[in-house]
Amino acid sequence: MCGIFGFVGEGGKVRDLVDALKKLEYRGYDSAGVAFWDEDAVRLFKIKGKVSDLETALGDILDLDIKGGIAHTRWATHGEPNDVNAHPHFDCERKIFVVHNGIIENHKELRKELEKRGHRFVSDTDTEVLAHLIEENYYGNILEALRRILPLLRGSYAVVAMHSDEVGILAAARKGSPLVIGKNENFCVVASDITPILKYTKEVIFLDEGETVSVGGTVDFVGLKDSVEKRIFHISWSERDAEKGGYKHFMLKEIMEEPEVLKNAMAGRMKGSKVEFEELKGWEDFLSNVEKVKMIACGTSHHAGMLFKYFIEDLIQIEVETDVASEMRYRKTKVDDETLFIAISQSGETADTLETVRKIKEKGGRVLSLCNVLGSTLTRESDRTIFLNAGPEISVASTKAYVAQVVVLLLLGVELARIKGKNIPAGFLDDLRDIHARFEEILENSNLIRDTAREFVKFRNFMYIGRWMGYPSALEGALKLKEISYTNATAYPAGELKHGPIALLDEDFPVFAIVPTDRMKEKMLNNIMEVKARKAKVVGVVTEGDDEVFRLLDHTLKIPKVHEYLYPLVMAPVLQLFAYFIADERGLDVDKPRNLAKSVTVE
Ligand code: G6P
Repeated sequence: MCGIFGFVGEGGKVRDLVDALKKLEYRGYDSAGVAFWDEDAVRLFKIKGKVSDLETALGDILDLDIKGGIAHTRWATHGEPNDVNAHPHFDCERKIFVVHNGIIENHKELRKELEKRGHRFVSDTDTEVLAHLIEENYYGNILEALRRILPLLRGSYAVVAMHSDEVGILAAARKGSPLVIGKNENFCVVASDITPILKYTKEVIFLDEGETVSVGGTVDFVGLKDSVEKRIFHISWSERDAEKGGYKHFMLKEIMEEPEVLKNAMAGRMKGSKVEFEELKGWEDFLSNVEKVKMIACGTSHHAGMLFKYFIEDLIQIEVETDVASEMRYRKTKVDDETLFIAISQSGETADTLETVRKIKEKGGRVLSLCNVLGSTLTRESDRTIFLNAGPEISVASTKAYVAQVVVLLLLGVELARIKGKNIPAGFLDDLRDIHARFEEILENSNLIRDTAREFVKFRNFMYIGRWMGYPSALEGALKLKEISYTNATAYPAGELKHGPIALLDEDFPVFAIVPTDRMKEKMLNNIMEVKARKAKVVGVVTEGDDEVFRLLDHTLKIPKVHEYLYPLVMAPVLQLFAYFIADERGLDVDKPRNLAKSVTVE
């Protein structure tokens, strides 16, 4: 969703602001803008459309030497995407400029009062109230003015403000939306995520809830009341990790990175035939008493959570509940000492996931999070965090982070089984240890998946079916296809077909069957016969060498033979690539699908 960047320092150019916005594009946006000091005035450029449109509009100005400025990519919530509603926004005198992520919930009341007092508004946004409120509270110090208005605001915000008279000083505040600060010899930078900061430094500081900071010659953090000492985090990601590296799309690059991702997610956690999580030290007593696990997640992360349910119920026979966080946050979920809550989030900033975690924490529940982003809000609000170590994921559709989530959950299941004195089936850990090699085999043959995808490009409807652990895979495969190729793809447990969805099927409505050689294969074969009888074309993911299934399907995508618990893992890149190739064949913007955002920071 919206992205923020700001810098102050010597030797900077307008181009630096625009380059930073390019690094934030992946979050999803519909307009972009910059404001910067030029001598003692602030110049503003903003535009509906892409950062490249803003770049064209700026032309020669890109090379102007500046002492700093602010920049923003907007994903419209209040007010349609247009030039006026794009950020930065300004006050009546055009001296104060602000960029903002989040939502000011009481903006209507605030606007009414401000208008009564003579302020002139030009946009439909909630953000503009911030500029006018700062104007009313400004007595020569932008940070103090910002601090004065915070108690008036309801909602969530990451805000960065500048004043034309205070050249080289930015003031920032956060509540519910992240901000990261970095500093090198020449520049101080502030941004809504790490990616645009990597060019400047790998040592960063995360702003905490309710804190404000002035970014200038020095970086001074102020807590709700007093000055605060901050911890510096070292980011292991490199700038290159967040670049395409010769691939046509980030999504393809991220899928190709999966063998490495698997190794990194398992590193230090899988020792011979033992699994160990440093992160769970001291929790053994609590975990041995756990009778119920409840998963909190959205989107792809929710599908990883669903897989855990099937796995754990099979391995340990404890109950696992899964629900999307947008529902769970409004339910009266029981919290007790025997329940472990697991929050899964690539970004660690998904609003519904965070709000559910807060509710559980308020009731005294214990939350373990699985997250890919160091310093993200989720990692700071959970009791314990297991990092996914997947590296930056830029493409909106999650791929490598999902693979890392699934493998970490499998390891976690093994650890829980050990704590609870349960046996791990023979062969499973051996296959898990070498799983990266199976991924390499699949990825080397990605051209076969592309050829199959080409056969199906013309279809606008798809039904994914699977059973048991194949069902979450079906859901995830369908989600990938709809996200990036805008195909109407639904997913059902194959046993449910006859209760309604089978009515949809005919020769124009193909079925994607998840049919590995697992305990449900025979049942799946029956379901495939049912759909074939309705003349639906069937493409399926099948285990290498399983000729019985091979003969039945119109098209097959092969996965290597592994322990049945591992099929959801090895089929992930196949489902991802199938969706990728269909979207690419259609010439779509794979990395930034319409209407979607990478990090959904509003409800
Ligand atoms: C957005 C993304 C999805 C992602 C979901 C949850 O909708 O487009 O790819 O699965 O958010 O994100 P999280 O960062 O919490 O895993």
